[in-house]
Amino acid sequence: MPTMPMDDPYDWFRLWFDEALASDEIEPTAMGLATVSPDGAPTTRIVLLKAHDRKGFVFYTNLLSEKGQHLEHTPEAALNFWWKTLGRQVRIDGAVEPVTDAEADAYFASRPRESQLGAWASHQSAPLLSRDVLEDRWIAAREQFEGGPVPRPDFWSGFRVIPRRIEFWRLGDHRLHDRWRFLAVGPGWERHRLYP
Ligand SMILES: Cc1cc2nc3c(=O)[nH]c(=O)nc-3n(C[C@H](O)[C@H](O)[C@H](O)COP(=O)(O)O)c2cc1C
Repeated sequence: MPTMPMDDPYDWFRLWFDEALASDEIEPTAMGLATVSPDGAPTTRIVLLKAHDRKGFVFYTNLLSEKGQHLEHTPEAALNFWWKTLGRQVRIDGAVEPVTDAEADAYFASRPRESQLGAWASHQSAPLLSRDVLEDRWIAAREQFEGGPVPRPDFWSGFRVIPRRIEFWRLGDHRLHDRWRFLAVGPGWERHRLYP
Protein backbone atom coordinates (compact mmCIF):
# COMPACT_ATOMS: atom_id res chain seq x y z
CA MET A 1 0.00 0.00 0.00
CA PRO A 2 1.27 3.49 -0.64
CA THR A 3 2.23 5.17 2.64
CA MET A 4 -0.71 7.51 2.09
CA PRO A 5 -3.90 6.16 0.55
CA MET A 6 -4.20 7.33 -3.05
CA ASP A 7 -7.09 9.54 -4.19
CA ASP A 8 -7.76 7.66 -7.38
CA PRO A 9 -8.69 3.96 -7.24
CA TYR A 10 -7.62 3.33 -10.85
CA ASP A 11 -4.12 4.65 -10.12
CA TRP A 12 -4.06 2.60 -6.93
CA PHE A 13 -5.19 -0.56 -8.75
CA ARG A 14 -2.57 -0.04 -11.46
CA LEU A 15 0.15 0.29 -8.81
CA TRP A 16 -0.87 -2.90 -6.97
CA PHE A 17 -1.51 -4.84 -10.18
CA ASP A 18 1.91 -3.94 -11.56
CA GLU A 19 3.49 -4.94 -8.25
CA ALA A 20 1.59 -8.25 -8.37
CA LEU A 21 2.85 -8.86 -11.94
CA ALA A 22 6.41 -8.21 -10.77
CA SER A 23 6.01 -10.44 -7.68
CA ASP A 24 6.24 -14.21 -7.23
CA GLU A 25 2.46 -14.67 -7.58
CA ILE A 26 1.75 -17.70 -9.77
CA GLU A 27 -1.34 -16.22 -11.48
CA PRO A 28 -1.39 -12.51 -10.64
CA THR A 29 -4.08 -11.80 -13.25
CA ALA A 30 -6.44 -14.48 -11.85
CA MET A 31 -9.52 -13.14 -10.11
CA GLY A 32 -12.70 -14.52 -8.61
CA LEU A 33 -15.75 -13.57 -10.63
CA ALA A 34 -19.14 -13.71 -8.92
CA THR A 35 -22.40 -13.67 -10.84
CA VAL A 36 -25.99 -14.44 -9.86
CA SER A 37 -28.44 -16.85 -11.43
CA PRO A 38 -31.87 -15.63 -12.52
CA ASP A 39 -33.29 -16.81 -9.18
CA GLY A 40 -30.66 -14.85 -7.26
CA ALA A 41 -28.20 -17.61 -6.33
CA PRO A 42 -24.57 -16.42 -6.41
CA THR A 43 -21.67 -18.49 -7.72
CA THR A 44 -18.00 -17.76 -8.36
CA ARG A 45 -15.24 -19.00 -10.63
CA ILE A 46 -11.74 -17.82 -11.57
CA VAL A 47 -11.12 -15.88 -14.79
CA LEU A 48 -8.15 -13.85 -16.00
CA LEU A 49 -8.07 -10.06 -16.14
CA LYS A 50 -7.13 -9.15 -19.70
CA ALA A 51 -7.42 -5.36 -19.70
CA HIS A 52 -8.07 -2.57 -17.23
CA ASP A 53 -8.31 1.17 -17.52
CA ARG A 54 -10.68 3.95 -16.48
CA LYS A 55 -13.45 2.28 -18.49
CA GLY A 56 -13.36 -0.86 -16.37
CA PHE A 57 -11.99 -4.39 -15.93
CA VAL A 58 -12.18 -6.85 -18.83
CA PHE A 59 -12.31 -10.65 -19.03
CA TYR A 60 -13.14 -13.01 -21.90
CA THR A 61 -15.31 -16.07 -21.97
CA ASN A 62 -17.90 -18.20 -23.73
CA LEU A 63 -21.14 -16.23 -23.89
CA LEU A 64 -23.23 -19.41 -23.63
CA SER A 65 -21.48 -20.56 -20.45
CA GLU A 66 -23.22 -20.39 -17.10
CA LYS A 67 -21.55 -17.04 -16.36
CA GLY A 68 -22.50 -15.78 -19.81
CA GLN A 69 -26.13 -16.69 -19.20
CA HIS A 70 -26.06 -15.14 -15.73
CA LEU A 71 -24.65 -11.88 -17.09
CA GLU A 72 -27.17 -11.76 -19.89
CA HIS A 73 -29.96 -11.96 -17.31
CA THR A 74 -28.32 -9.88 -14.56
CA PRO A 75 -25.47 -7.69 -15.87
CA GLU A 76 -23.84 -7.28 -12.45
CA ALA A 77 -20.65 -8.87 -11.19
CA ALA A 78 -18.07 -8.84 -8.41
CA LEU A 79 -14.34 -9.42 -8.86
CA ASN A 80 -11.84 -10.45 -6.22
CA PHE A 81 -8.04 -10.55 -6.38
CA TRP A 82 -5.94 -12.16 -3.63
CA TRP A 83 -2.20 -11.64 -3.95
CA LYS A 84 -0.89 -13.85 -1.18
CA THR A 85 2.80 -12.97 -1.41
CA LEU A 86 1.92 -9.29 -1.04
CA GLY A 87 -0.82 -9.79 1.57
CA ARG A 88 -3.23 -7.79 -0.54
CA GLN A 89 -6.82 -8.16 -1.64
CA VAL A 90 -8.84 -6.02 -4.08
CA ARG A 91 -12.62 -6.22 -4.47
CA ILE A 92 -14.45 -4.65 -7.40
CA ASP A 93 -18.25 -4.58 -7.78
CA GLY A 94 -20.22 -3.11 -10.61
CA ALA A 95 -22.38 -3.30 -13.66
CA VAL A 96 -21.22 -5.36 -16.63
CA GLU A 97 -21.22 -4.44 -20.31
CA PRO A 98 -20.12 -6.44 -23.32
CA VAL A 99 -16.85 -5.31 -24.91
CA THR A 100 -17.02 -4.15 -28.52
CA ASP A 101 -16.60 -6.65 -31.35
CA ALA A 102 -13.40 -4.83 -32.33
CA GLU A 103 -11.93 -5.32 -28.82
CA ALA A 104 -12.93 -8.99 -28.75
CA ASP A 105 -11.54 -9.58 -32.26
CA ALA A 106 -8.24 -7.95 -31.35
CA TYR A 107 -7.86 -9.97 -28.16
CA PHE A 108 -8.93 -13.24 -29.80
CA ALA A 109 -6.42 -12.67 -32.61
CA SER A 110 -3.64 -12.24 -30.03
CA ARG A 111 -4.28 -15.69 -28.48
CA PRO A 112 -2.23 -18.77 -29.40
CA ARG A 113 -3.84 -20.72 -32.25
CA GLU A 114 -4.35 -23.75 -29.97
CA SER A 115 -6.42 -21.63 -27.58
CA GLN A 116 -8.42 -20.15 -30.45
CA LEU A 117 -9.28 -23.70 -31.53
CA GLY A 118 -10.15 -24.52 -27.92
CA ALA A 119 -12.75 -21.75 -27.93
CA TRP A 120 -14.40 -23.42 -30.94
CA ALA A 121 -14.18 -26.88 -29.38
CA SER A 122 -15.76 -26.09 -26.00
CA HIS A 123 -19.47 -25.85 -25.26
CA GLN A 124 -18.37 -24.27 -21.98
CA SER A 125 -20.49 -25.35 -18.98
CA ALA A 126 -22.57 -27.93 -20.95
CA PRO A 127 -22.39 -31.62 -19.97
CA LEU A 128 -19.57 -33.49 -21.74
CA LEU A 129 -19.77 -37.25 -22.28
CA SER A 130 -16.01 -37.86 -22.30
CA ARG A 131 -12.69 -36.10 -22.78
CA ASP A 132 -12.40 -37.80 -26.18
CA VAL A 133 -15.42 -35.87 -27.44
CA LEU A 134 -13.73 -32.58 -26.52
CA GLU A 135 -10.43 -33.59 -28.14
CA ASP A 136 -12.24 -34.74 -31.29
CA ARG A 137 -14.02 -31.39 -31.49
CA TRP A 138 -10.66 -29.60 -31.16
CA ILE A 139 -9.18 -31.70 -33.98
CA ALA A 140 -12.26 -31.03 -36.13
CA ALA A 141 -11.84 -27.27 -35.57
CA ARG A 142 -8.15 -27.55 -36.49
CA GLU A 143 -9.07 -29.24 -39.77
CA GLN A 144 -11.89 -26.79 -40.47
CA PHE A 145 -9.61 -23.75 -40.21
CA GLU A 146 -6.43 -25.31 -41.62
CA GLY A 147 -4.46 -22.96 -43.86
CA GLY A 148 -6.13 -19.77 -42.63
CA PRO A 149 -6.75 -17.67 -39.56
CA VAL A 150 -9.11 -18.94 -36.85
CA PRO A 151 -12.06 -16.51 -36.67
CA ARG A 152 -13.54 -15.51 -33.33
CA PRO A 153 -16.66 -17.59 -32.63
CA ASP A 154 -19.77 -15.44 -32.29
CA PHE A 155 -20.40 -17.17 -28.93
CA TRP A 156 -17.06 -16.00 -27.51
CA SER A 157 -16.36 -12.45 -26.36
CA GLY A 158 -15.58 -10.29 -23.36
CA PHE A 159 -17.24 -8.36 -20.58
CA ARG A 160 -16.21 -5.15 -18.86
CA VAL A 161 -17.01 -4.64 -15.18
CA ILE A 162 -17.62 -0.92 -14.60
CA PRO A 163 -16.79 -0.37 -10.95
CA ARG A 164 -19.24 1.15 -8.56
CA ARG A 165 -17.14 0.13 -5.57
CA ILE A 166 -13.44 -0.74 -5.28
CA GLU A 167 -11.87 -1.89 -2.05
CA PHE A 168 -8.17 -2.23 -1.21
CA TRP A 169 -7.22 -4.47 1.70
CA ARG A 170 -3.78 -4.97 3.17
CA LEU A 171 -2.74 -7.59 5.69
CA GLY A 172 -1.85 -6.10 9.05
CA ASP A 173 -0.34 -7.40 12.28
CA HIS A 174 -2.70 -8.81 14.96
CA ARG A 175 -5.49 -9.02 12.35
CA LEU A 176 -5.54 -5.21 12.31
CA HIS A 177 -5.74 -5.06 8.55
CA ASP A 178 -6.17 -1.89 6.49
CA ARG A 179 -9.23 -1.41 4.30
CA TRP A 180 -10.01 1.47 2.03
CA ARG A 181 -13.25 1.53 0.12
CA PHE A 182 -13.97 3.81 -2.84
CA LEU A 183 -17.57 4.52 -3.85
CA ALA A 184 -18.35 6.00 -7.25
CA VAL A 185 -20.19 9.27 -6.67
CA GLY A 186 -21.04 11.22 -9.80
CA PRO A 187 -17.90 11.55 -11.89
CA GLY A 188 -15.60 11.06 -8.86
CA TRP A 189 -14.98 8.81 -5.89
CA GLU A 190 -15.61 8.91 -2.16
CA ARG A 191 -12.97 7.18 -0.08
CA HIS A 192 -13.62 5.62 3.33
CA ARG A 193 -11.40 3.71 5.72
CA LEU A 194 -13.25 0.71 7.12
CA TYR A 195 -12.75 -1.47 10.17
CA PRO A 196 -11.14 -4.71 9.01
C1 LIG B 1 -6.47 -19.82 -13.32
C2 LIG B 1 -7.75 -19.96 -14.09
C3 LIG B 1 -8.00 -19.07 -15.11
C4 LIG B 1 -9.20 -19.15 -15.83
N1 LIG B 1 -9.46 -18.19 -16.78
C5 LIG B 1 -10.66 -18.23 -17.43
C6 LIG B 1 -11.02 -17.16 -18.32
O1 LIG B 1 -10.30 -16.16 -18.50
N2 LIG B 1 -12.22 -17.26 -18.97
C7 LIG B 1 -13.06 -18.32 -18.78
O2 LIG B 1 -14.12 -18.36 -19.41
N3 LIG B 1 -12.77 -19.32 -17.92
C8 LIG B 1 -11.59 -19.30 -17.23
N4 LIG B 1 -11.28 -20.29 -16.33
C9 LIG B 1 -12.26 -21.38 -16.12
C10 LIG B 1 -13.38 -20.88 -15.19
O3 LIG B 1 -12.92 -20.85 -13.85
C11 LIG B 1 -14.65 -21.73 -15.28
O4 LIG B 1 -14.36 -23.07 -14.97
C12 LIG B 1 -15.30 -21.68 -16.65
O5 LIG B 1 -15.22 -20.38 -17.21
C13 LIG B 1 -16.76 -22.11 -16.57
O6 LIG B 1 -17.45 -21.26 -15.68
P1 LIG B 1 -19.05 -21.13 -15.66
O7 LIG B 1 -19.62 -22.51 -15.88
O8 LIG B 1 -19.36 -20.55 -14.34
O9 LIG B 1 -19.44 -20.21 -16.79
C14 LIG B 1 -10.13 -20.20 -15.58
C15 LIG B 1 -9.84 -21.11 -14.55
C16 LIG B 1 -8.69 -20.97 -13.80
C17 LIG B 1 -8.44 -21.92 -12.65
